[in-house]
Amino acid sequence: MCGIVGYIGTENAREILLKGLEKLEYRGYDSAGIAVANEDGVHVFKEKGRIAALRDVVDATVDGPVGIGHTRWATHGEPSRVNAHPHQSETERFTLVHNGVIENYEQLKREYLPGVTQKSDTDTEVIVQLVELFVTKGHSVEEAFRQTLSLLKGSYATALLDKRDTDIVYVAKNKSPLLIGVGEGANVIASDAMAMLQVTNQFVEIMDEEMVLVTRDDITIKTLDGEVKNRAPYTAELDASDIEKGTYPHFMLKEIDEQPFVIRNIIQKYQNEDGTVHLDDDIRSAMKSSDRIYVIAAGTSYHAGLVGKQLIEKIAQRPVEVHIASEFLYNMPLLSENPLFIFISQSGETADLRGVLVDVKKKGYRALTITNVPGSTLSREADFTLHTYGGPEIAVASTKAYTAQMAVFTLLAVDTAKASGIELDFDPIKELGIVANAMEILCDQKDRFEQIARDYLSVTRNCFFIGRAADYFVCLEGALKLKEISYIQAEGFAGGELKHGTIALIEDGTPVIAIATQEHVNLSIRGNVKEVAARGANPCIISMEGLESEGDAFVLPKVHELLTSLVTVIPLQLISYYAALHRGCDVDKPRNLAKSVTVE
Ligand code: F6R
Repeated sequence: MCGIVGYIGTENAREILLKGLEKLEYRGYDSAGIAVANEDGVHVFKEKGRIAALRDVVDATVDGPVGIGHTRWATHGEPSRVNAHPHQSETERFTLVHNGVIENYEQLKREYLPGVTQKSDTDTEVIVQLVELFVTKGHSVEEAFRQTLSLLKGSYATALLDKRDTDIVYVAKNKSPLLIGVGEGANVIASDAMAMLQVTNQFVEIMDEEMVLVTRDDITIKTLDGEVKNRAPYTAELDASDIEKGTYPHFMLKEIDEQPFVIRNIIQKYQNEDGTVHLDDDIRSAMKSSDRIYVIAAGTSYHAGLVGKQLIEKIAQRPVEVHIASEFLYNMPLLSENPLFIFISQSGETADLRGVLVDVKKKGYRALTITNVPGSTLSREADFTLHTYGGPEIAVASTKAYTAQMAVFTLLAVDTAKASGIELDFDPIKELGIVANAMEILCDQKDRFEQIARDYLSVTRNCFFIGRAADYFVCLEGALKLKEISYIQAEGFAGGELKHGTIALIEDGTPVIAIATQEHVNLSIRGNVKEVAARGANPCIISMEGLESEGDAFVLPKVHELLTSLVTVIPLQLISYYAALHRGCDVDKPRNLAKSVTVE
């Protein structure tokens, strides 16, 4: 959460920073700010709200070749102009932006800064005040920055400007993502490469507990012990069109539409010349040799994990447990002798997952990360990575990352089965191809789903999703999608569970969206629909070819029963999208959320 940018070069930093922040808005959008340095000093502009609001308060006559910027998802201190970054030291000599959480900021304030009046309620301000304190004690700025960093407990990606020497930006990282971009006569700082593609596509990864001295022509990476590290840049393979909406009104709609392409891309990336699937040999042997797989994830990725469990257990015949990352360390199950941990994360940065990864690595267990961002923290710190090849997902509500994760799980399950000598009558390449075609058919019928949203969700304050077997998992995802972007209270239930209490909430006209794509439970889910209808609910049944009945609201094209979730979710994503749109909600940036949840 929160995103930072920085620029040091010869161009107008103001516009580069603002454009960069617009690309990072998915990381938080409570408030934003920039600082631009020129011969007259350091000029700070901040505002509550989105980057558009910040643009309104930035003085367009202020120009300068150096600057830093920040977009915030509030943790300490309410969203406000005062709490927005950049923050400045008492004399305003130092100006700083920060993404992360300083856990011991109260203690640092008490111990080191008793006489200093803090201007904000943030944990961040302590960093910039400490730098000034150590400089006034006679240290160089670099040394003061280093000393400050060594006192911090928690996470940070941070950039510091010194009014007295604006030819350098001091940068540091621990646990929060940070890249340095290397351009021609300019270097940049970014939480995510896409923010600074406007300047360069050459980026250097910064590791935890490293600081970087960034000038126009040079970057020097050092550990906190002063050891200099040399690291070559990599090319960020992002196309500018990947991060633009193009002709779409929202990123979410674009990303829903991209799903057939993503599935075909995954097939292509993991297919051998002979048309079969073969994953990395090390992943294969880790899967084969483990006696139990522990899937760790959060939110939508957790829902993909539930489907992944079914795929691995049914195809590869290996036991799998799925756990919510934020609970795992507190409710840790008895582990098997030889576990393999699979971390599923679109962003690869989710702090709850990282906490588990660090813990299990300490215990000597192996870990595989399935992610959309291969250079991310979870990817770097795990033993193995499987890339989901979804392309940047910018809408806060996850769509294509979810289906991509399930497609990769399908290939992982098949590869593990093959490695274990299990005979399969399931061809993943063919079946995922059928899925991609079905997705395309659904994406071409948006008007049908818009009508369903109008018919069922226009006036309601709540909505239930029910399904059995695999359909239950997609109901959890459908409910999450609907609530997060439309603010309709929505819950997903196993069809048989609703009557154990929650059915009390059914009133006249309550929408109940029922999914019926599983032959062995088709009759029972339809029975559950009758139970709620008898109590006044307004049921909307989404079924699948071969299982349909009269009155179903939509019949999905048939796909393999292990892969139905990849297809069923498309109507649920589109219904949520239109419900949110009809209510005038900000679809791509729902309130209170951020895309990359880097605080625990
Ligand atoms: C919901 C959503 C979140 C994320 C969750 C995990 O639409 O996007 O629930 O799925 O925050 O994020 P990742 O997958 O990046 O670890």
